[in-house]
Amino acid sequence: CGNISHAYVIFGATGNLATHKLLPALYQLHCQGQLAADVEILGCGRSPFTQATWQAEVRAKLVGLVEGDAHLDGFIQRLDYLAGSLTDPGFYQALHTWVGDNGCENNVIFYLSVSPDLYVGVTDGLANVGLLQETSGWRRMVIEKPFGYDLPSAQALQRSLEQHLKEEQIYRIDHYVGKASVQNLLVLRFANVILEPLWNRHYIDHVQITHSETVGVDGRASYYDRSGGAMRDMIQSHLLQVLALLAMEPPVSQTAEALRDEKVKVLKSIRPVDVSQLATHAVRAQYAGYQQEEGVTAGSHTETYAALQLYVDNWRWQGVPFYLRTGKGLAEKRSMVSVCFKPAPVSLFQGQGASALPNWLMIGIQPEDAVRMEITAKVPGLEMRTRQITMDASVSSPGERKAEAYEELLLDVIKGDRALFLRYDEVTAAWQVVDPVMQAWSLDEHPPLQYPLGSWGPKAAERVFGDSLRVWRHSLACNNCLAG
Ligand code: BG6
Repeated sequence: CGNISHAYVIFGATGNLATHKLLPALYQLHCQGQLAADVEILGCGRSPFTQATWQAEVRAKLVGLVEGDAHLDGFIQRLDYLAGSLTDPGFYQALHTWVGDNGCENNVIFYLSVSPDLYVGVTDGLANVGLLQETSGWRRMVIEKPFGYDLPSAQALQRSLEQHLKEEQIYRIDHYVGKASVQNLLVLRFANVILEPLWNRHYIDHVQITHSETVGVDGRASYYDRSGGAMRDMIQSHLLQVLALLAMEPPVSQTAEALRDEKVKVLKSIRPVDVSQLATHAVRAQYAGYQQEEGVTAGSHTETYAALQLYVDNWRWQGVPFYLRTGKGLAEKRSMVSVCFKPAPVSLFQGQGASALPNWLMIGIQPEDAVRMEITAKVPGLEMRTRQITMDASVSSPGERKAEAYEELLLDVIKGDRALFLRYDEVTAAWQVVDPVMQAWSLDEHPPLQYPLGSWGPKAAERVFGDSLRVWRHSLACNNCLAG
């Protein structure tokens, strides 16, 4: 349990992430008795709240989130607010005084839920007043993605952080890794023996990793248009993390270093994308109407959809394509992994139904955390006919509470467990994968393809399959299960 005295300082406390994710997650931890009695949560922002008005503001947002609200008063009591500008040295002096006045055994977590342009300034500001020094308690810094906009900017950011922080103090967050269904990938692979013998190039034909969203840029257009794009916003971080967990070797233990060592090996084994053949390796597109969103620069080439074909050049995965795709404004909100196995080498039941169909392992990340295996079986009756059926397992039981990714991650920071946070070399290895593609796109004068809102993206995304007969799987539903 995270019953450890500390102060949680959130920069950007009035922003979207803090309001919708961080404060609700801390509230859930409070309700579950995971916060020590003296933990204080300080919101920092430019809006001129006092402690009382801030408490009222947060109360209004949280009321009803947890049934009964019995713990709400207790949680609200923990909240304080410090108004100021993050570029004003006086703000850091005031923060220093606040930390001094609010004991919490001098353990402090600083959460940077602000625009990435401010990361260096805030770290310098904290360091200038001595707030990052671990003289008595510990000091930890949580940094939201993106860590840089590309490899050189990530390296520059790291150099600035290193001046004041040790690697053990830095928690680079990727909330996807905190999802229980993403962690379940490790459990599925390494707590069971049935997958591992098949989990390689001898039996797997290809792997698809999909994250689709129905919403568009959803009020974040100016940020997304300037510094986002599907490749940077989703693939560099979340989808490459999923790929790493799927493709990694068994780690020697569950410790942060053991897990991250194995993930880094995968990321470093990804074959550089051949940008001279970019059109067949990567597809970018924009949903129709994106250009009209408020905050989007006229003629913007920022992609709201990206599909990418990758190969992991190691013994286990040689020749097995991994197809990653993500987009906004698509037909459904879903994240899933689809693993297509190779067909049986000889088809005994040729012409008698579904015998030529491959097995698929479908792993739902959200909204369903389910695991489905598509296998071929005999159709009941006198004739020898076959069809595909699914073996279906729902990971959670009805009524079981699913913890939000941020609950787990915020608690891990309190506990000092960095296993689910990204190490610097993971981040740089991921930039090395996507940077060449983004650079090639930035030089390409052709506008991105367009796709209608509510569709599954551009038809041309199938280009990444080359001349194979592969197709995208859009849901966990079995396409052929009715065919007999
Ligand atoms: C964020 C991206 O990291 O992840 C967003 O910046 C995206 O653009 C979001 O919508 C998706 O995460 P989730 O957990 O809502 O599926």
